[in-house]
Amino acid sequence: MEKTLSIIKPDGVRKKIIGSILNRFEISGFEIVNIKLIKLTKDEASTFYEMHKSKPFFENLVDFMTSGPCIPFVVEGQNSIKSVREMMGSTNPDDAASGTIRSDFADSIDSNIIHGSDSKESADREIAFFFE
Ligand code: RTP
Ligand code: MG
Repeated sequence: MEKTLSIIKPDGVRKKIIGSILNRFEISGFEIVNIKLIKLTKDEASTFYEMHKSKPFFENLVDFMTSGPCIPFVVEGQNSIKSVREMMGSTNPDDAASGTIRSDFADSIDSNIIHGSDSKESADREIAFFFE
């Protein structure tokens, strides 16, 4: 069984779709094995997304991720890293396949509802970041 880290971003909490999003994981057969609500500091958000430090969107991303509480949670299941990325859809909701979380709920590439670890290394690091 593989674990991955997902986050309902501050826009998802504001839109009151926490339940709708978590339900998608449950009906898809995944277990939610850890979860909390947290408002990230700028330092914490900067560290979490440190791989994007040099990108033009970095400051905006940190501002967005600290704009309200978010919900990090650990998802366990077969092939969960790849499956969760598929359930999320593309980074830009305009490109996301229909039926994906970003296609159904996200407003823009800057405000795209959900995060999911992109590799085993990221998953290990991100689970430790929030839960260890
Ligand atoms: P995430 O890490 O949040 O799950 O998103 P992702 O893997 O789909 O995308 P990533 O490349 O890791 O980018 C992290 C977040 O930065 C914002 N972004 N903006 N304007 C742009 O070109 C751009 N590219 C990325 C998005 O909000 C993305 O979720
Ligand atoms: Mg990413």
